[in-house]
Amino acid sequence: MWLSLVVLVGLYYLVRWYRERQVVSHLQDKYVFITGCDSGFGNLLARQLDMQGMRVLAACLTEEGAKQLRDRTSARLETVTLDVTNTESIAAATQWVKEHVGERGLWGLVNNAGIALPVAPNEWLTKQDFVRVLEVNLLGVIEVTLSLLPLVRKARGRVVNVASILGRLSLSGGGYCISKYGVEAFSDSLRRDLFYFGVKVAIIEPGFFRTNILPLERYSQTLKNQWNQASSEVKETYGEKFLAHYMKTITSLENMCSEDLSLVTNCMEHALTACYPRTRYSAGWDAKLFYIPMSYLPTFLVDAIISWNAPKPEKTL
Ligand SMILES: NC(=O)c1ccc[n+]([C@@H]2O[C@H](COP(=O)([O-])OP(=O)(O)OC[C@H]3O[C@@H](n4cnc5c(N)ncnc54)[C@H](OP(=O)(O)O)[C@@H]3O)[C@@H](O)[C@H]2O)c1
Repeated sequence: MWLSLVVLVGLYYLVRWYRERQVVSHLQDKYVFITGCDSGFGNLLARQLDMQGMRVLAACLTEEGAKQLRDRTSARLETVTLDVTNTESIAAATQWVKEHVGERGLWGLVNNAGIALPVAPNEWLTKQDFVRVLEVNLLGVIEVTLSLLPLVRKARGRVVNVASILGRLSLSGGGYCISKYGVEAFSDSLRRDLFYFGVKVAIIEPGFFRTNILPLERYSQTLKNQWNQASSEVKETYGEKFLAHYMKTITSLENMCSEDLSLVTNCMEHALTACYPRTRYSAGWDAKLFYIPMSYLPTFLVDAIISWNAPKPEKTL
């Protein structure tokens, strides 16, 4: 009985491994559009796909970022400046993509651009603080996708959305986790909508990686500003000790971050080039072994684990 179970599980993984190794043909003719290529995962993915011979259309927030990327890649890779919070910028980038891909359509759309700050206890923030993050990480993803979808449908291509383990576990206040839960929800409904058109949607759920997304010096300053702007009631309730502990907890993340960004970009590449891509990719050992399993625990256990070493407010009455 146990032996047949082991054989069945082994067979399942063998078949899965074989299926996942099948790569789509004519990669050199396929166009992939990636947002947020100035730095981090987007930048590495653009260079990686360029090396594989794919036709990369890299969107950068700044012209400087675009120039630096062009300097490190082949003449095949082309760049455009794109602010995903700006409708005119998205329309102009869409037109640019249309002119490049022509009748072939767009094989891959990678929604990667994102910001994290401000991260703080919710009560210290304003509505505008939430809006700023949601505009880039969620509404930006939605608007770029809606704008480019006809081109992706034409190619029966792929949409790859970068969420996070923070789209499964809300570990901090602020708009970031909310935006990533939103990306998960949007991607799930999009996958079902697009199934009939042969378009596949993949979600990338990285753990913690060292990129520009949480610049610790700027973060400390932002948190101090949030604290300074908070009402005297909030300050009295939470107390300076809370601020110090909170800041220490976030800055200690630095030591937990992986430096190997290819763990994430390899998942993105697989989602774009495999005949049978996965629906979800957990990227990084922390995601695979800790955060994703934890997201399946009962809520009371998750709360207990998260609040175990978390800062506590001074006055709770
Ligand atoms: N690093 C992690 O631990 C981690 C974990 C899970 C998920 N993620 C997600 O991975 C994605 C990439 O982040 P990353 O870690 O590689 O950080 P990153 O190095 O900061 O890359 C984010 C990119 O987005 C760009 N960007 C910011 N605002 C934009 C806007 N309004 N329009 C267009 N582009 C904009 C940034 O441009 P500038 O550089 O010019 O600001 C940057 O190139 C994000 O969606 C992030 O949420 C990261």
